[in-house]
Amino acid sequence: MQPALEFPRGFLWGAATSAYQIEGSPLADGAGPGIWHRFTHTPGTIADGATGDVACDHYRRWRDDVALMRALGLRAYRFSIAWPRVLPDGRGRVNPRGLDFYERLVDALLEHGIEPLATLYHWDLPAALDDRGGWLNPDSTDWFADYARIVYRRLDDRVRRWLTVNEPAVVADGGYLRGTMAPGHRNRFEAPIAAHHLLLAHGAAVQAYRAEGHHAIGIALNLEPQHPASDDAADHAAARRADAWTNRLGLDPVLLGRYPDELRTLFGAAWPHGPDDDLARIRQPLDFIGCNYYTRRVVRHDEGAGLLQAAPVPQGAPCSALGWEVFPHGLVEVLGWLRDQYGNPPVHITENGMALHEPAALAGDELEDAPRMTYLRAHLRALQAAIGRGCDVRGYCAWSLLDNFEWAAGYAPRFGLVHVDYATQRRTPKASARLYARIIATNGRALAE
Ligand code: FCB
Repeated sequence: MQPALEFPRGFLWGAATSAYQIEGSPLADGAGPGIWHRFTHTPGTIADGATGDVACDHYRRWRDDVALMRALGLRAYRFSIAWPRVLPDGRGRVNPRGLDFYERLVDALLEHGIEPLATLYHWDLPAALDDRGGWLNPDSTDWFADYARIVYRRLDDRVRRWLTVNEPAVVADGGYLRGTMAPGHRNRFEAPIAAHHLLLAHGAAVQAYRAEGHHAIGIALNLEPQHPASDDAADHAAARRADAWTNRLGLDPVLLGRYPDELRTLFGAAWPHGPDDDLARIRQPLDFIGCNYYTRRVVRHDEGAGLLQAAPVPQGAPCSALGWEVFPHGLVEVLGWLRDQYGNPPVHITENGMALHEPAALAGDELEDAPRMTYLRAHLRALQAAIGRGCDVRGYCAWSLLDNFEWAAGYAPRFGLVHVDYATQRRTPKASARLYARIIATNGRALAE
């Protein structure tokens, strides 16, 4: 007999998306361009030249999508607000129609008994601000806090859980060090500065929330164990460096008020020397931590691999369509860090899911996504184990509600519980969506099926 895998009472079951990945109509109703609009329209940046111009057309189909969430029995929905819709120039003039869109969405969610979790920054910086240096400009902290205040004033009476920045370390790495994500810079001097400003912006948005808001706020961090490929000291050191840049770059300043020493060594003169009180501004008391968990990385020292001197090593284990190893135990591990090294804050799993290559069009109403079902079951069991070991996890959002625009990888890797036929915009729940609906309805007991 399998043990009953019931989750704590009131566990918040949901699914997540982000604005640029699903909405489409990026310039509709007075919105300004964002950096992802600009990046996707730059030749050579995205697989197959894909853009978010249409995506899942959620900007026009949001009503149906909320009905779909309701049909799946979701209790929560994590979405992001597109800054360029609210402030077309990034600051100054507010575009009321942008705010209206999110207000309608939130009202529809609440009417259906679905708790909104709103992310303020899921990577779509207004292009006008990028023209002023974007996250390299020290004023970005104030720009973000001003934008956040505008959104709180409109929606905090209905949105009770907020996330400031999604994955600051991924933005610094992809956007400013490797150039694979918007704004596409490749500069070892810029990356730590961008990271520092993103973290300061987080702190400023939390401070603004304490003055204006009445509910709960946190940050979404991508946590990914970095395991050394061997017992060799050089591999261990490479794994520590990768861990500092991937995980502790967010965790340490936000929760402990300091940066990992490895980063100062690694970046040398490029590491920002801000005023001493910067770290105090970054470390604001939070109501919860959002944890995005997908995979682990196995790294070995590699002199030729540039700054971080680590190379991912394939393990021969099952992998997603993005080549990410399926490693459920890593979820127990990262939640153990939060419990043991960071004061056991309340946690929401804000993303977790698996990309697969699946047909663009379905012949009927069925898609048996067995690997995703296995992934979901295994990660929820890992989550259950972590909770059993004292981790304070309050909710789980699957990534993603819908197949969507997977950044530089375009539309080929599909993450959805619900299939999207991009030619017709038809939505079809996959077998994993039906499994997830049963898990939600039984508060986890269906995991024993
Ligand atoms: C995360 C992002 C999210 C999605 C998943 C697969 O890093 O937050 O937007 O693309 O990866």
